[in-house]
Amino acid sequence: MSATALLERTAPLYDKVKSLIPPIEWPVFADDIDAILTLKRERDAVILAHNYMTPEIFHCVADIVGDSLALAREATTTDAKVIVLAGVHFMAETAKLLNPAKTVLIPDSRAGCSLAESITAADVRLMRQRYPGVPVVTYVNSSAAVKAESDICCTSGNARKIVESLGVDTVIMLPDEFLARNIAAQTHVKIIAWAGHCEVHERFTAAEVRALRADYPGVTILAHPECPPEVVAEADYAGSTADMSNYVGREKPARVVLLTECSMADNISVHHPDVNFVRPCNLCPHMKRITLPKIRRALETMQEEVTIDPALAERARRSVERMLEVR
Ligand code: 13P
Ligand code: SF4
Repeated sequence: MSATALLERTAPLYDKVKSLIPPIEWPVFADDIDAILTLKRERDAVILAHNYMTPEIFHCVADIVGDSLALAREATTTDAKVIVLAGVHFMAETAKLLNPAKTVLIPDSRAGCSLAESITAADVRLMRQRYPGVPVVTYVNSSAAVKAESDICCTSGNARKIVESLGVDTVIMLPDEFLARNIAAQTHVKIIAWAGHCEVHERFTAAEVRALRADYPGVTILAHPECPPEVVAEADYAGSTADMSNYVGREKPARVVLLTECSMADNISVHHPDVNFVRPCNLCPHMKRITLPKIRRALETMQEEVTIDPALAERARRSVERMLEVR
């Protein structure tokens, strides 16, 4: 296909991201996007993309976008033979747990997560020894091996509901200390936390929030619950990436800050041209390993396939399914 024909064919997609991508850069993306759309049909593949994917992935090749909870739910409903998870490794593992018979591909298996890396299955067993009989609620940002040692999973979108669904007065909540402390501030359930942190969200500070309010009077500040509690306390609202997106759609703040990963504001700004996004943000180096050329290569080569030992997967799946049963 000629370059002109390619640009004509991809023009409706460019229209979606033109506020973010300069025209001179589009041809670089257009070739990969066009190839990925063809490969998806040939392979009977669906692309699930997290809200932190860059706009050309999020708006131009993804079939389903959302927070960790939405991606886990959607993974249970797709009819496609192949799932490409445009996100980090624990998300691809969760999709595989819920679809043992499907091929699940991750475009770069090195896309990890500081939270998932902060804890091992042996650590969970030690916590159980230390607090006998106390149920273990594990954030989905964890390995399948850690999920397998847990009673139930949670995401930032449902953590309080999951903790309260257990009907106990104390739970262990792993591995994100700040999520655990932020949820503890909203519930009567006593929460025993682990000392894991998200390297993206732990860097926001309360002083930064106060400086933003001084610089932009009237600004609305939304924080992800992986931020330190003193940051959440200074924010107007805290919620998962989907909750933040819904908040902007519902409340239409004139000016807003999203204390989270950088692509989040880019992606939702496309739908809200009247909202002024002030953009202090931190990049997630793991999420940023996922690129269009790597998605294309994953579909061309059917690599890298996510595999999980079946016996371990069986136990890990139970924790994820229990979470999905709580409505
Ligand atoms: P959510 O999209 O579930 O809010 O999670 C944010 C995150 O950091 C995932 O890595
Ligand atoms: Fe992990 Fe934080 Fe990156 Fe999410 S943003 S993948 S929690 S390091």
